Amino acid sequence: MEKPKSITVKEFTFKDDKTDPPESLSVSIPELLDPQYGMYVWPCAVVLAQYLWTCREELPRKTVLEVGAGVSLPGVLAARCGADVILSDSAKVPQCLENCRRSCEANDLKDVQVLGLTWGEVSPDLVLLPDVDLILGSDVFYEPADFEDVLVTVAFLLKKNPRSQFWTTYQERSADWWIEPLLRRWNLNCVKVPLEQFDADHCELAGSNLPGIHCVHMMKITVKTDQITTKTW
Ligand SMILES: C[S@@+](CC[C@H](N)C(=O)[O-])C[C@H]1O[C@@H](n2cnc3c(N)ncnc32)[C@H](O)[C@@H]1O
Repeated sequence: MEKPKSITVKEFTFKDDKTDPPESLSVSIPELLDPQYGMYVWPCAVVLAQYLWTCREELPRKTVLEVGAGVSLPGVLAARCGADVILSDSAKVPQCLENCRRSCEANDLKDVQVLGLTWGEVSPDLVLLPDVDLILGSDVFYEPADFEDVLVTVAFLLKKNPRSQFWTTYQERSADWWIEPLLRRWNLNCVKVPLEQFDADHCELAGSNLPGIHCVHMMKITVKTDQITTKTW
């Protein structure tokens, strides 16, 4: 029989001292002691969650989908800020979907849907998704063989609702990896958001030292079109 894995709960506290009174929000994320990728919070997730925190006034009632969510820090933070959130991870890794559910329970989120969405696969769950305003993906570009599959799924959803955006954080692991040719192939635009713009250029963030020495980039990806004139975000 497989040994039960040990779970620990990590707390992340997002703060804004510039408001009067200062605002803060704490999110609890259960992590599993397991070498698999989707079992704990990656530095990229803290950076993306920090960006969402700075945009929290825009989140209520927005439909937000997180892909490759793992333990789902950004999606949970978006839900705690009032967005209608759908969390997803590979349909082939039920344990990751279980992690999404566990993170919702730890934050008393009862209305968050959890779906198996495997990048690059056109499944009924993908096709039947409602139009989403925002797609989140933290550290989903970590295996070059999957880069195009991630973008195929994202491009499919962005084209369904061309006003939507994909907000993603990327950890630089090799100077040879880049998604630019794939963005061109799938007719996508990418704008980089400097970390200092949202106070994420620190080793410590949200009370955790996870971003540490890692080189993380924040990007906003949209579909290229001549028709959109109204900025939605
Ligand atoms: C590096 S982890 C990042 C997890 C989480 N987003 C974070 O930043 O803490 C990559 C995530 O992508 C998921 N994943 C890997 N391959 C996938 C696929 N083909 N389709 C959907 N999700 C996948 C993994 O299960 C894992 O949760």
